[in-house]
Amino acid sequence: MSSDSATTGPSAFETRSLGAIGAEVRGLDLRRAISDDVFDVLRELVMREGLVLFRGQALTSIEQIGLGQRFGPLEQLDVRAEQEEPTLVVIGNLDSKGEVLPADATHMKLISINEGWHTDSSFREIPASFSVFSCVVGPEVGGDTFYANLRRGWVDLPEDLKARLYGLRGVHDYAAAYRARGNDEGGMIGYDLPAIVHPLVRRHPETGTTGLYVSEHISHIEGMDPAESRRLLDELLNHTTAENRIYRHHWSVGDVMIWDNRSMLHRAQGFDQRHPRVMHHVRVGGFERPIAAT
Ligand code: SIN
Repeated sequence: MSSDSATTGPSAFETRSLGAIGAEVRGLDLRRAISDDVFDVLRELVMREGLVLFRGQALTSIEQIGLGQRFGPLEQLDVRAEQEEPTLVVIGNLDSKGEVLPADATHMKLISINEGWHTDSSFREIPASFSVFSCVVGPEVGGDTFYANLRRGWVDLPEDLKARLYGLRGVHDYAAAYRARGNDEGGMIGYDLPAIVHPLVRRHPETGTTGLYVSEHISHIEGMDPAESRRLLDELLNHTTAENRIYRHHWSVGDVMIWDNRSMLHRAQGFDQRHPRVMHHVRVGGFERPIAAT
């Protein structure tokens, strides 16, 4: 893995490649005040790399919310207002007494939607920009998260296929994605919203780069024959998430991952009920509707 300290400018923090995609930052403590100059370098890094990992930084909820807010206003994730902080959602397999929930508990069925490749909040007209995710209880085994880069997925496509994709729009349908996982219970964010269309090829609003905007939360491509639409979506997703293009992260307590949903896909491996796993998640709202690349 390569290491780089020169490109981080005023921050003087170090970055190391995580492999096919992504970078790890060392030498920057997220729990301390970060100057605007250093934050700008970090934000640029997240956009350039797609995902950035920090280790050994057990953030309090307030610190994690504060970090997210540096990127922009946060989405309200806890629509049922069950948690103290509605912008911070707990994704875990423990009940209020700290007991591991059974795999068929409603909560576990609802968060199983994260096991499909997706970008956060694509069910919204203006989907999330950045996500800040931290590990509070790390499972000994399993519970990994996988990441893939949608820009890389686009760049590596054959030119004739790229030409066919401009102008197409994907139908993001949460309820259909839940149903596909055998879950017909509503009550989770996005479930009751009507399906929404977004361009299948997207221009990043800040870097100007082109990327695919595919996901397992897309039920079909607007106006396309269903079988053809399924085949094309599967082809694009399989290409983008091929083994040699992804990063797989096994979580330890204090890991913090920041990613840019405008260029990244992720998916959960899923919970192993033998092992407690608790993650904290805040999402930064987007700033504009996804822009079609031309
Ligand atoms: C998510 O998709 O937001 C959660 C991913 C995970 O739990 O690994």
